[in-house]
Amino acid sequence: MSDQINALIKESTTSFYVFDIAALKQRIRTLRASLPETLSLCYAVKANPFLVKEIADEADRFEICSPGELEICRKLGIASEKMVISGVYKTPQMLEELAADMDFHGIVTIESLRQYEILCGQVKKYGNRIPVLLRLTNGSQFGIGREEIEHIVAEREKHGDISILGIQYFSGTQKVSARKLKREIEHLDQFLGRLETEYGYRAEELEYGTGFPVAYFEEDKLDEQELFQSFSQQIGSMCTHPAVTIELGRSMAASCGQYYTHVVDWKQNKGQNYLLVDGGMHQMVYFGQYMAMKPPFFGVCGKEDAPKEEVWNICGSLCTMNDIILKQASLPKMELGDVLCFQNTGAYCMTEGISLFLSRDLPAVYLLLENGELLQVRKSYDTAELNMPVYG
Ligand SMILES: Cc1ncc(COP(=O)(O)O)c(C=O)c1O
Repeated sequence: MSDQINALIKESTTSFYVFDIAALKQRIRTLRASLPETLSLCYAVKANPFLVKEIADEADRFEICSPGELEICRKLGIASEKMVISGVYKTPQMLEELAADMDFHGIVTIESLRQYEILCGQVKKYGNRIPVLLRLTNGSQFGIGREEIEHIVAEREKHGDISILGIQYFSGTQKVSARKLKREIEHLDQFLGRLETEYGYRAEELEYGTGFPVAYFEEDKLDEQELFQSFSQQIGSMCTHPAVTIELGRSMAASCGQYYTHVVDWKQNKGQNYLLVDGGMHQMVYFGQYMAMKPPFFGVCGKEDAPKEEVWNICGSLCTMNDIILKQASLPKMELGDVLCFQNTGAYCMTEGISLFLSRDLPAVYLLLENGELLQVRKSYDTAELNMPVYG
């Protein structure tokens, strides 16, 4: 562990995140080396906006799902050529702004017929010929049905101002099954084939959120290389040949993150040992956790090699009985003030939590840069400010 992180652990008084940029870039290199060379990588900003600037060159694209994410990417200097404006609801203002901005050279995804009509109208009005990806639904509220996509494609000449680049598809996260991915690729391939034979439309691009998984728990048995190999083979055997971009959040970002939280109290209730930490479920979410039973990869700072001689239930500091991080955790001899470090917290933890509950502070965020410098990129935030009613 770097001296700077050690110093931070000693001086910190509440929970914080560290994102290791060298580890993140290594992860992207591993992904590229394990997947077909022709594949492009799109980073889903929602997973962790704090990483965007650091991988501006490493990612081929950035998937942006809200006006807020767009603002972040713009301010961080992401070129519009790398932007895919996505997300189920795009405000009409945002669509108009993009259509009016002749310097915007990104892609927009289409999530409904209404969104398509609004964008067609704006593009006609302003003349910025924005390329679009039609999002194919997986049967949820996201995307558009096959028949409607076929309708748009059949009528594409009527909307000559808009160019339909291809299809976007995402059906869920943490997909561990190679067979499921295989089935999805076969369906996508069939659908693209049908667009070609029935409507003479050849999709140039397929943008695919594969939902690649992360091994979060000690018990997880994930053969990632086998999954990537099977996926690569399947992509290689497609009959249609769109340029494929995969949209990834979790698989790209999770492993670079550590979350640190302090032991602030302890007690024994009805024979159970409870260790209370200053963080909790509002700051750290492990996808697939079940009743706090599965140990994630974590340790007690400075006691990594100490024998495990105590059993504790680790709980967060929210007023809900659900705020249990881990039940019956085997730990070394614990003291108040010990700091727990949870691994694989680089994706979604800092964005998905119920962080306004109880008006507790938002943790500070640090980047461990490649030169070893620890850079604070967000201060600890007082959420009481946001929950404070303002009169008059
Ligand atoms: C459209 C789309 N693409 C990509 C992602 C990223 O998914 P993951 O983090 O599983 O890679 C998401 C996540 O919600 C999504 O909605």
